[in-house]
Amino acid sequence: MDRRGNFLHIAIDGPAGAGKSTVAKEVAKRLGISYLDTGAMYRVVAYKALRDGIPLEDEELITTLAENIEISFEHGEKEAVYCNGEDVTEAIRDAEVSRAVSLVASYPGVRKRLVKLQRQAATKGSFVVDGRDIGTHVLPEAKVKIFLTASVEERAKRRYLENLQSGKKTTLEEVTADIESRDRLDSQREYAPLKVAKDAIIIDTTGLTIEEVTAKIVEIAREA
Ligand code: CDP
Repeated sequence: MDRRGNFLHIAIDGPAGAGKSTVAKEVAKRLGISYLDTGAMYRVVAYKALRDGIPLEDEELITTLAENIEISFEHGEKEAVYCNGEDVTEAIRDAEVSRAVSLVASYPGVRKRLVKLQRQAATKGSFVVDGRDIGTHVLPEAKVKIFLTASVEERAKRRYLENLQSGKKTTLEEVTADIESRDRLDSQREYAPLKVAKDAIIIDTTGLTIEEVTAKIVEIAREA
């Protein structure tokens, strides 16, 4: 909380593989505040659509799905994401979900519903929130706005190594193609696209370690 007793909100936006979620989690831990992964929420909708066999191109059906889905998070010793009570933490990271998510996330009705949930969560406490439109659209009043980026090559390499470590079989080519395609869809969609907020601090994480980026954001937040 700041001196006026307001909650502290730190928005971290940027393209896929820029390191947002790893850094956001660590910043939240160091500042003793909560973390909200908005990307996971869009992933849950994409996952459920795929599982229920809902055609991804059917905007109306996908929007109805998003309006009726229950998404919850577990924080602490176990970090988990639930969809209608089912643990989908691993499932939402599948390559199939990654390929589907940006189309689903381009539908205004889906975004309106998830943004409403995100804003509701933010009224309850101090949060680090990561996503694509947090500083520009979800929490435009956030005290600290960070835009994390890195070259496509570096982001693809990081995601590829991450997949290897978690036992997911992908090739560097597949990961690069997925990142490039999502970057394009996320920045070109009409409603709340990925862009740098006017008052955001841009951090190019190419060549920086997680620790360096985390320390930088913690320092910015402490001075804000
Ligand atoms: O972790 P990664 O960067 O791969 O992606 P994510 O944060 O899990 O987000 C997955 C996808 O959800 C993005 O590619 C966007 O299409 C969408 N998304 C969005 O549109 N708005 C947000 N605030 C967060 C994610």
